[in-house]
Amino acid sequence: MKYFDVAKLEDLEPGTCLSVELDNAPSVALFNVDGKILALNNTCPHAGGPLGEGTLDGEVVECPWHGWEFNVRTGACMENPTPEWAASCYQTRVENGVIQVAFPPEAA
Ligand code: FES
Repeated sequence: MKYFDVAKLEDLEPGTCLSVELDNAPSVALFNVDGKILALNNTCPHAGGPLGEGTLDGEVVECPWHGWEFNVRTGACMENPTPEWAASCYQTRVENGVIQVAFPPEAA
């Protein structure tokens, strides 16, 4: 597992989310939940919507396409809380104001 720079911390205010396109890696959705940075695979397990462009409420994001909700800490889908509908979680860290994400993802 290796960490990669994905965004500046200043671009992710508490209570907001962000989609990040990466070279040679899946697109990542970043979330700032009260200062804790969390990351999921950006591709919604339902039909591919960009979770990082959804609406964050606490630690739950609502997909912008059809409104399914996911816990951004666990990846669990609130509508279908089974492993096949969970979004993959990534470990994150912040180094010198830069958000880093570890690949590959953890099992949801
Ligand atoms: S693509 Fe996310 S809810 Fe349908």
